Amino acid sequence: MSVNLETLRPEPSVEGMTTPGGYSCKAVRPIALRMTMEIATMMRREFPGRSLSAIGGIETGGDAAQFILLGADTTQVCTGVMKHGYEMVKRLQEELLAFMEKQKFETLADFKGKSLNYFTTHAELVRMQKERKARDKAAAEAAAAKKMVKADSEWSGDEFVKQSDALARG
Ligand SMILES: Cc1cc2nc3c(=O)[nH]c(=O)nc-3n(C[C@H](O)[C@H](O)[C@H](O)COP(=O)(O)O)c2cc1C
Repeated sequence: MSVNLETLRPEPSVEGMTTPGGYSCKAVRPIALRMTMEIATMMRREFPGRSLSAIGGIETGGDAAQFILLGADTTQVCTGVMKHGYEMVKRLQEELLAFMEKQKFETLADFKGKSLNYFTTHAELVRMQKERKARDKAAAEAAAAKKMVKADSEWSGDEFVKQSDALARG
């Protein structure tokens, strides 16, 4: 639910009034995406060939594409149709096709589960970030060393401050 800051009435509004409802649509989408990822990962390992149909917060072609990228074979819509009517399915299809054209995908199989390859453990993320920072530091030090003045003839009027900074820090 939400509150409209113009009318000061809670939403969704029916004849200007509302009542608290259930838990679905965009409120559950991040959770449904995670569940899809976890189930699809498990199915790849233990049930290859089985299909997975995803649901939870799908309202646009972009939403459907995210579920397919995380391993769904098909997608379903419940609240989206209640909110926008069945016409939303046509719009969803067009948006999904536009995404596929932009990414140069011919079929759903071209991108099904493609984003599953980019999950790892928290410990691995920390290790990768530490390694990248060490690489950046070494590269910055090498670049600074290159710019360091090594002979009197290398001093330049415009670069003097930078050159002496590099020497001081080096
Ligand atoms: C009004 C309403 C009634 C629902 N009735 C059922 C039901 O009878 N059986 C069921 O398995 N799921 C039911 N659901 C859950 C939906 O099938 C769906 O899993 C959930 O709402 C998440 O998808 P959505 O975000 O597209 O709505 C219902 C959902 C809503 C909003």
